[in-house]
Amino acid sequence: MKVLVVGGGGREHAIVWALSKSKKVDKIYACPGNAGIAALAECEGISAMDGEKLLAYAKEKGVDFVVVGPDDPLAAGIADVFLDAGIPTFGPRKNAAIIEASKAFSKDLMKKYNIPSAAYEVFDNADAAIAYLKTAPMPIVLKADGLALGKGVLICNTLEEAEAGVAELMLDKAFGSAGDKIVIEEFMTGREVSVLCFSDGKTIIPMTSAQDHKRAGDGDTGLNTGGMGTFSPSPFYTEEVDRFCKEHVYQATIDAMRAEGREFKGVLFCGLMLTEKGPRVLEFNARFGDPETQVVLPRLKNDIMDVFMACADGTLDKIDLQFEDNAAVCVMLASDGYPVSYEKGFPIEGLEKFDGKDDYICFHSGSAFKDGKIVTNGGRVLGVTAIGDDLLTARAKAYEATDWISFENKYMRHDIGKAIDER
Ligand code: AMP
Ligand code: GLY
Repeated sequence: MKVLVVGGGGREHAIVWALSKSKKVDKIYACPGNAGIAALAECEGISAMDGEKLLAYAKEKGVDFVVVGPDDPLAAGIADVFLDAGIPTFGPRKNAAIIEASKAFSKDLMKKYNIPSAAYEVFDNADAAIAYLKTAPMPIVLKADGLALGKGVLICNTLEEAEAGVAELMLDKAFGSAGDKIVIEEFMTGREVSVLCFSDGKTIIPMTSAQDHKRAGDGDTGLNTGGMGTFSPSPFYTEEVDRFCKEHVYQATIDAMRAEGREFKGVLFCGLMLTEKGPRVLEFNARFGDPETQVVLPRLKNDIMDVFMACADGTLDKIDLQFEDNAAVCVMLASDGYPVSYEKGFPIEGLEKFDGKDDYICFHSGSAFKDGKIVTNGGRVLGVTAIGDDLLTARAKAYEATDWISFENKYMRHDIGKAIDER
């Protein structure tokens, strides 16, 4: 089969890497891809948002199947473009991708179908939001309704902070139209776990669990980022939590979406908080997580193409999804200054040290070719990933491998997987 992967980050590199191991896949294309993906796929510099050009390219190459990585094109309806042209596609249609694209939609869905989540109110008017905040307990959480690269969430400790937050989101439009509407949500505490689930619209199967580190700095300080590192599995995702979520979250959400006429096919990413009262949904995403994918897919035993096809054609109940009984850790090497401002275009040295080592994979998040060399090309640059028999081994190996790479403004967190010590 010929498969086109849409996107060009570390998540897409991990997807391409998994596809490259499939017995069913003969040829992989990626748009736009990156310098790491280019080792495994033919890359073409078409934007992931340009549905028309992507479809023409897929037709020209005789692509049999499309896999969409990022949220923006899914929210804009990229899956509809391919599906309506008769090309099987992994990823939800626009009417289902809304579960990520609108936080107000997902909160209303959870309320209607009793899916456990934080209490909330939705506002499309700043004065009404501020009047509500004056009566609300602090801390409190403000969320831009729309997509904001994972950065549209403000945790406010005081009324003053919350008022400033409303102004930032709704009046100053820090995240553009994503802040036309906001969700104001009860503040919860607990450990966070990401569970990515495959779904064909009827059946849903959770993958192994993972934990992300969203803040830029050690000790969970600094700004929220797309994710600075991950580990899998999460030791806090116990059998009891799994049982609860299978009963009250995963299937319930897929059934709710179908009942609303929004059949969800693809990856439903459940961001969970394990509170004292039990697991609660923090957010849903309509795609693989980045960098969760970099630690989850290397542990997958199945041929990923079998799973993608089963999701697309509604036969996921026939798949016995299996993961290795091991662990993986991914440490993100970023450009210093991310997520605010940073320089790029610096040569990356040491990539060849990963060659021939099955336990170590260097997934490229933001890299490009310049004058025949691979250079940095983003805030997040490389996801250095290692596999080990257990979490401690995987973590030690991942940090060992971060030393193999050098580039001018290399920045990373030094405490990815610290929670492993707190088990
Ligand atoms: P989200 O994009 O909705 O997952 O939010 C980003 C991050 O904000 C989450 O990973 C949590 O760390 C934090 N967060 C979101 N909602 C809440 C909440 N209700 N209570 C506490 N923290 C939250
Ligand atoms: N790592 C969090 C996300 O992909 O949204």
